Amino acid sequence: MKIRPCEPEDHTGIDTLLQTAFPEPGEARLAVALRAADADTLELVAELDDKIVGVTMFSPTQAKLDDGREIPGLGLGPVAVLPDYQNRGIGAALIEAGLDFIRTLGPTYCIVLGDPDFYGRFGFEPAPSLDLHWAGDPEDKTGNAFQVLALNDAPHLPRGTRIEYHPAFDIV
Ligand SMILES: CC(C)(COP(=O)(O)OP(=O)(O)OC[C@H]1O[C@@H](n2cnc3c(N)ncnc32)[C@H](O)[C@@H]1OP(=O)(O)O)[C@@H](O)C(=O)NCCC(=O)NCCS
Repeated sequence: MKIRPCEPEDHTGIDTLLQTAFPEPGEARLAVALRAADADTLELVAELDDKIVGVTMFSPTQAKLDDGREIPGLGLGPVAVLPDYQNRGIGAALIEAGLDFIRTLGPTYCIVLGDPDFYGRFGFEPAPSLDLHWAGDPEDKTGNAFQVLALNDAPHLPRGTRIEYHPAFDIV
């Protein structure tokens, strides 16, 4: 299996993959919207048997502190692996490779929405326990699914901070 940056000719395969891996079309639309908005900071694919079997994307986020400061970071998602290729370590390898690369860009945090049992293995922590919140979910209805990972030895964002995904996420 090879993990490499996405090329434009991969887009059709990625679209099929996202439509296959997710029951709703929102994630496939999100990938298109992120690219159109030039918000695809990193898009990695996993290639096996000359086929795109996995994808992950990272896009810009904005943390809004209580004192009015804003701190840019990155959001992980979507991430998906074709059903026939799941549970072989491909999703984890894509996420590890993505996190390794984004650390070199210097951000102090990364966010994700998903199962804490899966993302906890990469160091993500449930945001509500840190008093950090997704701006798109003022009542914390997503609970522990909204998670944060501090990067580059930075401390966690100050308590009470609200974090915004890129506006392209409004499509999901
Ligand atoms: C989530 C996903 C990307 C994981 O990719 P993968 O290649 O199957 O994952 P890996 O093989 O690296 O890791 C497998 C582990 O993740 C766990 N896992 C897989 N999907 C999970 C999920 N949705 N929630 C919680 N745990 C999950 C498996 O149980 C397995 O655990 P184990 O190592 O303790 O046995 C893949 O299952 C997928 O595409 N799912 C459908 C789309 C989706 O839900 N994406 C994530 C949205 S947040």
